[in-house]
Amino acid sequence: MSVRPLLEVEDLEVAYGDVQVIWGISFTVAPGEIVTLIGPNGAGKTTTLRTISGLLSPKAGKIRFRGEDLSGRPAHEVVRRGVIQIPEGRKLWPRMTVEENLLLGAFAPRARDMAHEQLDRVYALFPLLKGRRRQLAGTMSGGEQQMCAIGRGLMSEPELLMFDEPSLGLAPLLVDELFAKITGIAKQNVTILLVEQKVAHTLEIADRGYILETGRTVLSGTGKELRESEYVQRSYLGT
Ligand SMILES: Nc1ncnc2c1ncn2[C@@H]1O[C@H](COP(=O)(O)OP(=O)(O)O)[C@@H](O)[C@H]1O
Ligand SMILES: [Mg+2]
Repeated sequence: MSVRPLLEVEDLEVAYGDVQVIWGISFTVAPGEIVTLIGPNGAGKTTTLRTISGLLSPKAGKIRFRGEDLSGRPAHEVVRRGVIQIPEGRKLWPRMTVEENLLLGAFAPRARDMAHEQLDRVYALFPLLKGRRRQLAGTMSGGEQQMCAIGRGLMSEPELLMFDEPSLGLAPLLVDELFAKITGIAKQNVTILLVEQKVAHTLEIADRGYILETGRTVLSGTGKELRESEYVQRSYLGT
């Protein structure tokens, strides 16, 4: 018996005004999975995540979370259901401390009650942030800010955590650390939808993935199947 997906995206179409950029994308994410969306710049990955987050309205198609239709619902309703997106770029409050930024992540009522326990869990995952808890977020390095943004996302007790190119601009050593953290988060029963350009690395940690090109799904499979596919090797892995 297969598990009902946590997230189901079905025949999604999205347009910016008259310009349609998503042309019928379908994919699912099962509880506990790491699923990745891969594709070149302009393929529609960010648009897809922003539509799931409720920041854009679909032109057609369905977005279901736990079987409930969320298509076109406003962002605050989506967030309340535990669907959290770590934004592209960092978007921390630079003049507040690391800990203040983290605590502001615990805005949902259920998260607020648990904020201090959750803070301990975030510090266990990111010991660096604990050491910097009183530092102003804006004075940290890009990599540290990225970890803080992820920690802030975790503070809201997500069920589905979505990442939009989290490794962008990180030094290679930090990229390895970031992927290890994402795997660690998945082990804590947080389901993950990951958009990334570091394809080899991403397919190593992903259970499954979908290749998007110009707003359409062109290929899907397990991380291993995609890694071994001739198409992915030729177009994305340069082998
Ligand atoms: N705010 C916007 N207004 C109009 N077109 C946009 C906007 N944002 C993105 N697009 C267009 O939508 C397409 C998909 O973009 P995007 O979702 O950002 O792709 P990706 O994240 O895969 O690089 C691109 O052609 C892009 O130019
Ligand atoms: Mg993008």
